[in-house]
Amino acid sequence: MALRKIVIKNDDILRKKCKPIENFDEKLGILLDDMAETMYKANGVGLAGPQVGVLRRIAVVDVGEGLLELINPEIIKSKGTQRDVEGCLSCPNEWGYVVRPNEIIVKFQNRSGKHCQLKLKEFFARAVCHELDHLDGKLFIDIADEMVDPNELKD
Ligand code: NI
Repeated sequence: MALRKIVIKNDDILRKKCKPIENFDEKLGILLDDMAETMYKANGVGLAGPQVGVLRRIAVVDVGEGLLELINPEIIKSKGTQRDVEGCLSCPNEWGYVVRPNEIIVKFQNRSGKHCQLKLKEFFARAVCHELDHLDGKLFIDIADEMVDPNELKD
């Protein structure tokens, strides 16, 4: 495994729409392993393709319930709303309130290409929605309704 460089906010690559993953090969496994390692090392809970310079529909998420690898993910159902603070490894030292669905059903493929479906709620749903936005060139700072002073989060 290897660490990948995390792309920071003003890079145009974060603003592009990603293409689907088509090849479920060894290279994909290496990319997923590298993305997970990079996310854990940076103490993040999610990381999407564009954030490591890969314009493909791929993301990893771990909110403390184990690693979830999402390939070609799509939210097929969402319910309710939640509003809470988000950050992003590509936007260091920025936090803001974002409204997200409280529950989602996400369909995706795993690293073998198998089609899967998961029902997620609360923080897990938020993290997945955040990563899916990255795949469409969207950052949380675009949709935050209020930015937070990082000093206010310390206690
Ligand atoms: Ni992010």
